[in-house]
Amino acid sequence: MCKIHAAITGVGGYVPNYRLTNEELSTIVETSDEWITKRIGIKERRILKPEEGRGISYLAVKAIEDLQSRRPFNPLEVEAVIFATTTPDYGLPSSAALTAAQTGMTNAFCFDMEAACSGFIYALDIADGFVSSGKYKKVMVIAGDILSSVTDYEDRNTCPIFADGCGCVLVEATTEEVGLMDSILRSDGSTPEHLHMYGGGSVYPASHETVEQRMHYIWQDGRIVFKRAVSSMVDACEELLKRNNLSKENVDWIVPHQANLRIIDAVAYHLNVPREKVMINIEKYGNTSAGTIPLCLWEWENRLHKGDNLILTAFGAGFTWGAVYLKWGYN
Ligand SMILES: CC(C)(COP(=O)(O)OP(=O)(O)OC[C@H]1O[C@@H](n2cnc3c(N)ncnc32)[C@H](O)[C@@H]1OP(=O)(O)O)[C@@H](O)C(=O)NCCC(=O)NCCS
Repeated sequence: MCKIHAAITGVGGYVPNYRLTNEELSTIVETSDEWITKRIGIKERRILKPEEGRGISYLAVKAIEDLQSRRPFNPLEVEAVIFATTTPDYGLPSSAALTAAQTGMTNAFCFDMEAACSGFIYALDIADGFVSSGKYKKVMVIAGDILSSVTDYEDRNTCPIFADGCGCVLVEATTEEVGLMDSILRSDGSTPEHLHMYGGGSVYPASHETVEQRMHYIWQDGRIVFKRAVSSMVDACEELLKRNNLSKENVDWIVPHQANLRIIDAVAYHLNVPREKVMINIEKYGNTSAGTIPLCLWEWENRLHKGDNLILTAFGAGFTWGAVYLKWGYN
């Protein structure tokens, strides 16, 4: 019997209309276009303004509609919707359920999952488990965040980085030699103090004090996160390449989480992969957390060929990180 693989058969994406430029940000906190461009590599980021819409499901519905326009599919055939996000619309119900209801995926079971910036690769691996087991044939993976809703616009260590955006991929069963080939996913929850948002959970439910102490915003120790991000993504990619007998020549694309251009460049340098093979769009979209990798696939879709070898890699709060080896499924 042929092995069942889980292949991406369509990509959609959406970023909000409003462009928050480095120039505008420099009027809000003490920073400059020059500093942000040099130290982070971002020129502008998209922000969802209430005039346009509210909540991550607003972006997700737009992303699904975009996927539908590029690669029509019957929403009633989708059996599961997995939504990777750290900024769901509400505590409950899930944004997956809200999005499915608005896009006709009414036969699917739906759930949100949180792995911060590694959310997309985690969700893709879960979808692969569902599909390659033979139990399900069509799974929608959605990944994105409204990081502007948890960003402290008085903290110049974080506000230039974070942004809003959402992508989605349809994952389907195939017996062809394409799709998700292998993955390495890791996490280490021993040092939450380096990157966290403590307010609003069951330890610190929302209160006047948590709001006053700005605990509903993401806080990070940028230097520690930077170092861990580079070493973790490089280690995961090297292990994945080795155990799949892949050399840098066989790899067509590295698709890294877009957190900082210097992190991306350091990962490419350690893997000895030229920049031409690395998907980079951080300069215009910033760090949309779980959204960055699907938004790269969305933008590069018409440059991808069936059988291309892609290495997806991410790092985020948790810490969470990993790498996925994917053979692209269509032209
Ligand atoms: C946050 C980050 C951009 C800071 O860049 P950095 O080069 O490490 O900068 P440092 O923290 O060493 O700070 C250097 C100086 O720049 C200053 N600085 C920090 N942010 C600044 C800003 N936006 N504008 C101007 N100056 C800034 C600092 O105050 C510091 O000044 P000092 O030397 O007088 O104390 C960087 O560490 C980073 O990207 N880390 C990873 C973050 C990340 O990826 N988070 C998401 C996880 S997925």
